[in-house]
Amino acid sequence: MTDVGRHPNITLHTMSEVTDIKGFVGNFNVRVLKKSRYVDESECTACGECAKVCPVVYPDEFNAGLSSRRAVFMPFPQAVPSSYVINMNECLGHGCSKCADACDKNCIHFHMSDEDFQVKVGTIIVATGLEPYDPREMDEYGYTRYENVMTSLELERMVNAGGPTMGELIRPKDRQTPRSVGFIQCVGSRSQQKGGGEYCSNICCMNTIKSTLVLKEHYPDLDIKVFYIDIRAFGKGFEVLYNRSRKLGVQYIRGLPGSIEELDDGSVRVAVENTSTGRIEYHDLSMMVLALGIKPSSGTQHLQEIMGLQLTSDGFYLEAHPKLQPVDAATRGIFYAGCAEGPKDIKESVTQGSAAAVRAIRLMHRGVITTEPITSEVIAEHCVSCGICATVCPYNAIVVDTKKKTPAVVNTAACAGCGTCAAECKFGAIVMNHYTDDQINSQTDSMLAKNPANVILTFACNWCSYAGADYAGVSRLQYPANVRLIRTMCSGRVDEKFIWHAFEKGVPVVLISGCHIGDCHYIDANHWTEKRVIKMHKKMEKMGIRPERLQLEWISAAEGIRFAQVMKDMDILRQNVTEAEIAETVKILQARKKK
Ligand code: FES
Repeated sequence: MTDVGRHPNITLHTMSEVTDIKGFVGNFNVRVLKKSRYVDESECTACGECAKVCPVVYPDEFNAGLSSRRAVFMPFPQAVPSSYVINMNECLGHGCSKCADACDKNCIHFHMSDEDFQVKVGTIIVATGLEPYDPREMDEYGYTRYENVMTSLELERMVNAGGPTMGELIRPKDRQTPRSVGFIQCVGSRSQQKGGGEYCSNICCMNTIKSTLVLKEHYPDLDIKVFYIDIRAFGKGFEVLYNRSRKLGVQYIRGLPGSIEELDDGSVRVAVENTSTGRIEYHDLSMMVLALGIKPSSGTQHLQEIMGLQLTSDGFYLEAHPKLQPVDAATRGIFYAGCAEGPKDIKESVTQGSAAAVRAIRLMHRGVITTEPITSEVIAEHCVSCGICATVCPYNAIVVDTKKKTPAVVNTAACAGCGTCAAECKFGAIVMNHYTDDQINSQTDSMLAKNPANVILTFACNWCSYAGADYAGVSRLQYPANVRLIRTMCSGRVDEKFIWHAFEKGVPVVLISGCHIGDCHYIDANHWTEKRVIKMHKKMEKMGIRPERLQLEWISAAEGIRFAQVMKDMDILRQNVTEAEIAETVKILQARKKK
């Protein structure tokens, strides 16, 4: 961090919050609110005289509340910039002014105010980090009731040589050295209850193993027991550490405690079903450590909203592709580093951070970008400036001035080519290059040229459903041979017109298939597919066409079996559509066209 602070080409905006982001790759406009620190950071020498006289005492967040700090404080010893800061919500202000009087350099200015400014950047790396799970949400382990139950973060600060106890392990209740310590793994991870994540937090097993080694090094006679579901010590050298910990006498007990109660001397009694022996065991321990899982940082959602990014169901940012673009966001020019994208340890975070930096440099170094030719284009003379296309575009790539009634303009650098705008435009004013209406309708025509009543017409998105079909094929799964696939980049491209056209050509059933909700490769374009299909079902009902004949299914690239099953179900549906029904539909649609 010090290197970053000193680098001539890096500007650090500490205590700053991103409030808005507009623009696109190469031209992002970032609005920043820089909070005032009330201390002139260029003059402050971090002598600490101000903190010595400050009368206001608060728990020190850096030491997990195990020590105290003043209202004027240094956030942590290696903070960059190396300058004190005043928390104005805690400070007594002008009525006190002791810190200002004590400062020889006159660095303290109570009149400083927050600064609002904008910066122009070409690319953005999102590295919003993580938050530890709040153990108060899962109180069966007694974190809020028993003083000698602490978190792994608190233990980490306690055993740190620069921490509140100078590295000495003590029980919080009586400040005595404990005889035994227990660790409970997966607190807030791999759990479906009380705000916990269903995912493995990746770091807790190794953090516990490291803590047991540190404790054994300083307190060889300490009795240590670790309660776990399973130990995940994958990665270079990790199994060695696990084995070393066991050789040093740390006892690993397979099973998570069902209950904890406090004993008279402040120790805790743990009841646990040892799943290796199948027996209920009771263990008395001087203190207990909860190995906390990790959560996405609190600002994740806000940033996701202002940048139009995607989140996974766990609340972490979704990468453009888990294997091929693991650091890219779906929006061009935005990259992820560290735990913003998912739980990871230091090594993985450094690797991903380096990858993100290189991806950003690679884009900016060239100064120009090459885009896929699959982008939308506006036919100005057809455009009525209704603004629908701009509303549905997941990338904010379309600008329309609805007041001045000027035609929509597509920014091809920002357009990712989902085709939702073209599908939603009622006036035929948007052409989706390489997936034009004519190209898609021609495919339908040729597929339905012979015996259309026998065909299951399927529109499949490129990234998930089409790949799911591929997977079914390479897995040699049997599914009806009368399935005909039309590939679109996203299910969002499937225009209402394509469906009417297919029914008019005499197809009994149509399937639209795309990525599962939340997995669409164009942020949330498939939400528009879903809405469109619901609207179409209502229209079909009004027109006297059975809505079941149009189906919508989400099939991922890994769901070959599901693809085959959906197709079998579609074939059963097809067989239930009579020739008379098809003929009636054709009549209805032809009459509608004439109107
Ligand atoms: Fe598959 Fe959008 S990319 S539905």
